[in-house]
Amino acid sequence: MKGMLSPSLMCADMLNLQSEIEALDNLGVDYVHLDFMDGKFVPNITLDASLIKSVKSVLKNMKRDIHIMAYEPEQYFDRMDIGAGDIVAVHYEACNNLHDVLGEIHSRGASAFVAISPDTKTDVLADFLDEIDGVLVMTVYPGFAGQPIVEGSFDKISAVRSIIDESNKDIILEVDGHVSWDLCQKMRECGADLFVAGSSSVYSRGMELDEAVNKMMKLIN
Ligand code: DX5
Ligand code: ZN
Repeated sequence: MKGMLSPSLMCADMLNLQSEIEALDNLGVDYVHLDFMDGKFVPNITLDASLIKSVKSVLKNMKRDIHIMAYEPEQYFDRMDIGAGDIVAVHYEACNNLHDVLGEIHSRGASAFVAISPDTKTDVLADFLDEIDGVLVMTVYPGFAGQPIVEGSFDKISAVRSIIDESNKDIILEVDGHVSWDLCQKMRECGADLFVAGSSSVYSRGMELDEAVNKMMKLIN
């Protein structure tokens, strides 16, 4: 599977979000990563649900890659106008009944991803392989951009890759957190397909967006 890019909008210029989104869309980027946080599952608040909904109205080709760091994420699906074409990643650690939540995402025509935080073991995935379209491996603790990668992340990516390959299912492996210029190729070698690019790459200082996106696309393919 080709390497796909999902720049993290929470790392973009918050005062010019529409032009930031349109610039990514015009560069042919596959996804835009939209982080939603409830302030309880993680001690932070970022993009709100109605903004995530309004992103839909400005997209031409790019799709939404929605990462919900919140307890009972299903309560936000209407407000975000979840539908066909969307990726919706919900946290294993945040759902009372993950089977039901995954079913709810599919009932809206969207792709259901399960996100696992650094301290969550990969064997929790076994029960959900028939119900997911992707796994979002957090390589930092969820909640903030600009953090260093968590020790053991590469082994974790490789372990999830093996689980997916052994399942013979069409499951995308997404990585999120410190996907930097110098680490993204190793993440690719470990088996990542979809790369959330934030402050340590696409939105790092001192590089024009088009140059950064093109550089990242080369590094992950
Ligand atoms: C953190 C978010 C990430 C974050 C990535 O909880 O899920 O998407 O924006 O930012 P960097 O790339 O700076 O780690
Ligand atoms: Zn994220």
